[in-house]
Amino acid sequence: MRPRSACGALAALAALAACDSLPGLARRVAAPPGPPPLTMGPWLLDPGAATMTVAWTTEVPSAGRLWYGTSAPDHLAIEPGAGSTDHRVVLASLSPQTQYRYRIEGADASSVFTTAPEPGQEGPIQVLVYGDNRSNSGDHALVARAAAAEHVQLALHTGDMVVNAREPDLWRTWFREEHDLLAKTPLLPTVGNHEITDSGVAYSRWFQHRDRPTYWSVDYGPLHIDVLDSFEVAAGAKPHIGGVSEAQKAWFEEDLRQVPKDRHVWVLVHQGPYAHPAHARPGHGGSEAVRAAVAAGAKIHPIEVVFAGHEHFYERGLIDGLHYFVMGGGGAPLEDPDPSFPGVQAAQKALSYATVEVCGCHVRGQVKDIAGKVIDSFRLSDCATPCATPGFAAEPAAR
Ligand SMILES: [Fe+2]
Repeated sequence: MRPRSACGALAALAALAACDSLPGLARRVAAPPGPPPLTMGPWLLDPGAATMTVAWTTEVPSAGRLWYGTSAPDHLAIEPGAGSTDHRVVLASLSPQTQYRYRIEGADASSVFTTAPEPGQEGPIQVLVYGDNRSNSGDHALVARAAAAEHVQLALHTGDMVVNAREPDLWRTWFREEHDLLAKTPLLPTVGNHEITDSGVAYSRWFQHRDRPTYWSVDYGPLHIDVLDSFEVAAGAKPHIGGVSEAQKAWFEEDLRQVPKDRHVWVLVHQGPYAHPAHARPGHGGSEAVRAAVAAGAKIHPIEVVFAGHEHFYERGLIDGLHYFVMGGGGAPLEDPDPSFPGVQAAQKALSYATVEVCGCHVRGQVKDIAGKVIDSFRLSDCATPCATPGFAAEPAAR
């Protein structure tokens, strides 16, 4: 029997290596290209009891492929449509309040997320509130790292992620510094004025649901969260001039009419109804348009709290029966609040974030600085019915 040549042996093995003398064969046996590596992400959007969206970007277009499962990532979800650099894979038919492991083909490592409780279910859940990162890289990274260590289930962002939304490098830095938090924690953001320096194009690309405006709501266990847009481009807003359309206000009121009476309603918005900087600046302080919208909404359904940003400090207050927060210590250059203003209950110039625990009727929280020091604690709701989670009500009482 004639021995095979070296090239013949390789052809028979079909794929061990290409052979210079057989260029056609070399093309046939070349290994298929692997998935392109990620350039940003992953991050998690649109959390539900049965759904989660996983987003990421790649340098070159590809079809997104994501493995996921409860004990191991053994189910494959493939992004529909033509290949893209901006990927979103929508996972459905998930189990509520369940941890899943997932792995994107092309990513270095796997991660986990937890689905929401069913709407109306009491929890417990733990929610992060932060914002105003503004590309002040070192400080933003410190806040993001401290927040990631809290291991919350959901993150609310009060807006102003980057100083200029037109600059792709700033977004790459923002996603890199947020990675450990956003790979595990679904993000509910609202539009900041710095997100409309490009008329909201990048914000829409990274975060906005493609079938809805920048204002929307979500049911998450015991919470109903209304995300409002205080810099609505459709209302004529500019980076230094807020705007809220009549359409948004009408949507907000109609949305509240559908909410069960026992649900905690939170509002997330960039420029809130109240804020008291020590040094006044044009376009800062509370938004009259948001104040009016929230007051009108509160006549339809009790609004437990408004979480906002826009000012680069921490403030908590109670004015005209409305609990409000300014969570703007996410990394932007810090400013001085005015703690002496009537209604202000706490205020600090500090890099900071809040964690809020909800279980049934009980809502309480803490605000920490980046060293882990508790700079404020609060209770937003309480009742005689104990939380089913042992130890929940035994924590230190809030002010
Ligand atoms: Fe702002």
